[in-house]
Amino acid sequence: MSRVYIFDTTLRDGEQSPGCSMTMPEKLRMAEALVDLGVDILEAGFPIASDGDFDAVDAVSRKYPWVQVAALARACTTDVERAAKALQYAKRPRIHTFIATSDIHLTHKLRKTRQQVIDEATAAVALARNYTDDVEFSAEDATRTDPDYLEQVCRAVVEAGARTVNLPDTVGFSVPDEYAELIGRMVKALGDRAIVSVHCHDDLGLAVANSLAAIKAGARQIECTINGIGERAGNAALEEVVTAMKVRPDRLPFETKIHSEKLFPTSQLLTQFISFGPQPNKAIVGENAFAHEAGIHQDGYLKNPATYEIVSPASVGVPESRLVLGKHSGRHALKDRAHTLGHELTREELDEVYTKFTHLADNKKGLRNDEILALIKSVKAQSVPAGATK
Ligand code: KIV
Ligand code: ZN
Repeated sequence: MSRVYIFDTTLRDGEQSPGCSMTMPEKLRMAEALVDLGVDILEAGFPIASDGDFDAVDAVSRKYPWVQVAALARACTTDVERAAKALQYAKRPRIHTFIATSDIHLTHKLRKTRQQVIDEATAAVALARNYTDDVEFSAEDATRTDPDYLEQVCRAVVEAGARTVNLPDTVGFSVPDEYAELIGRMVKALGDRAIVSVHCHDDLGLAVANSLAAIKAGARQIECTINGIGERAGNAALEEVVTAMKVRPDRLPFETKIHSEKLFPTSQLLTQFISFGPQPNKAIVGENAFAHEAGIHQDGYLKNPATYEIVSPASVGVPESRLVLGKHSGRHALKDRAHTLGHELTREELDEVYTKFTHLADNKKGLRNDEILALIKSVKAQSVPAGATK
């Protein structure tokens, strides 16, 4: 199986997005969890952006000398030097420098010519190489860049010393087959002189699909974040790309060093630090990701979880599947819950509890265990013990 490197940018692209800023102790606790999770490269901040980012890169790189720690820098001297300074005590420093390459960014944002951008990109890479061998270059807005020009930029930065070339779908505009085509072309152009990396935003909900299409086309690094946090609609969710590879090795024959059973705890930790959690129906880590409510589903699940679960909750660190008892639930699930709550129901008792339950559940989002217990007890109190006469 081919190895795919997981580049985590929760503390940089994630942290810079609204509602996601973290204090220094929170960043350090998050870094600890990411290291335990097994990420290969940890992007700890954008040192020129703030002292907080500088300190985070410095602290994380000192604390985890065995981990590749990346610092972001625009393709200019001040940024690269600041990133290098933040990484000065790192044992495995990576300088990640970037500049936009699409005409729309060149014309309206940078006001630079294509040649100027190539010159600045190569100069930044060469400067970064004075500090570390591990230099990554990102062509911001790669997916809206003229592919011929993009190839010219990629070749030039590799010539200047970049070991990793990242082709971000900065605005989440690409679709899987198109992205795969672009990645395949750059992989072919660069050969084994550089690792091609992907960094996808989720503006069209395609960040994970695009990342997976890209590795099939030869990319070997995925940039992603826990819970998919990041600019606007976010980045590709780490837990989703990793789990997809685990569950579908037939189609995605790639391996990572991620300890999957730590995915859910890491997601929960992040949720404690930022102002929002994953949406309930979010894959892998959402509250409903392993919840079953429909009666047919619950019945199948109780007979064999594989009928409705393609991932075992334990494999991603989720404590258990949840059978939500609501208006769509059936007798089988209710009997099972009564058993869990310590009560065996006769057929007649089950019928009666079920009738009362459906009446109540009709007006509610789902019943809590204490409410179910109260129903069971009321029915049990009325039922006649075997052998007794009235
Ligand atoms: O989305 C993007 O293009 C980025 C780069 C700085 C890598 O975050
Ligand atoms: Zn980004």
